[in-house]
Amino acid sequence: MMHLPQVSRWVDSVDNQLIQYFSQKDPLTHPLDRAMEYSLLAGGKRLRPVLTLAVVDCLGGNTDSAIPLALASELLHTYSLIHDDLPSMDNDDLRRGKPTNHIVFGEALAILAGDALQSEAFRLLIDEPCPDLDLATRLAILSDFAHAVGRNGMVGGQVMDLQQAGKQFDIERLRQLHGRKTGALIHFCVRLGARLGRANAREMAALDTYGHALGLLFQVTDDILDLEAESSVLGKTAGKDQDQDKATFPKLLGLEGAKAFADETLSLGQDALTSLERDCKLLSDIAEYVRNRGH
Ligand code: IPE
Ligand code: IPE
Ligand code: MG
Ligand code: MG
Ligand code: MG
Repeated sequence: MMHLPQVSRWVDSVDNQLIQYFSQKDPLTHPLDRAMEYSLLAGGKRLRPVLTLAVVDCLGGNTDSAIPLALASELLHTYSLIHDDLPSMDNDDLRRGKPTNHIVFGEALAILAGDALQSEAFRLLIDEPCPDLDLATRLAILSDFAHAVGRNGMVGGQVMDLQQAGKQFDIERLRQLHGRKTGALIHFCVRLGARLGRANAREMAALDTYGHALGLLFQVTDDILDLEAESSVLGKTAGKDQDQDKATFPKLLGLEGAKAFADETLSLGQDALTSLERDCKLLSDIAEYVRNRGH
């Protein structure tokens, strides 16, 4: 992902914990474990857990003890990718530089691997030890997560994405669509870091603005990259959005308009950081990276 020693260390820790996770496979459901492991360990930038750790770090919290909980978003995200690629959704055959889950394991196992990744994500947030995390905060985290991934979050956004294809839409509708399908989980990752790092109300408000802007920015740049980048760089098929006439920022505003919108959204996120009154260089670098990734 980003070329920063701090971030590379976190990406390595996340990868190592994910590898350990599958070190013992259940003989009775072995193909399920293999299908889950295949997509989880296929690569991926690990932006979501890294974001949580960067927020914890910015608030002076303990990043090591935050890792097991930070992994939940990567499991949930991987489930969303497996389902997003299904023939009944975006019908993609390349993901993270490899054949998609349903191409390798078949549709039934791909659906079930996604389902199991989702429940495992909740289980991690419920079960994983985290020193000094009180029960009320844990419940608040679970509530945030459920909202971010369900009907008002990722799943609702995916439904809007499917419904909007080939139709007219305006900027408000598109903000909502992108905010839900991608933004909500990224915003959750920031809030998780804020809760684990014991942000006060003022800090939480600033981080909410940052997280919301970053989530929207992420999907706007995903739309831009779908048009501008090569499949070999993306590790997924470029040009899909136009083929499927998806509702995207470049479709609504043109490529230059989408880039200007991305710049405005980036500034919004950066401004929120200044009101934090902490050293948030890393969070600012992450936002910059999200804007310029793939270049
Ligand atoms: C891709 O997410 C799907 C979207 C939400 C736009 P990422 O670009 O974070 O994918 P990985 O995790 O690096 O593969
Ligand atoms: C998907 O958006 C967002 C998810 C919830 C997975 P896209 O359909 O644009 O993601 P990619 O481009 O296939 O990664
Ligand atoms: Mg999609
Ligand atoms: Mg897709
Ligand atoms: Mg896309």
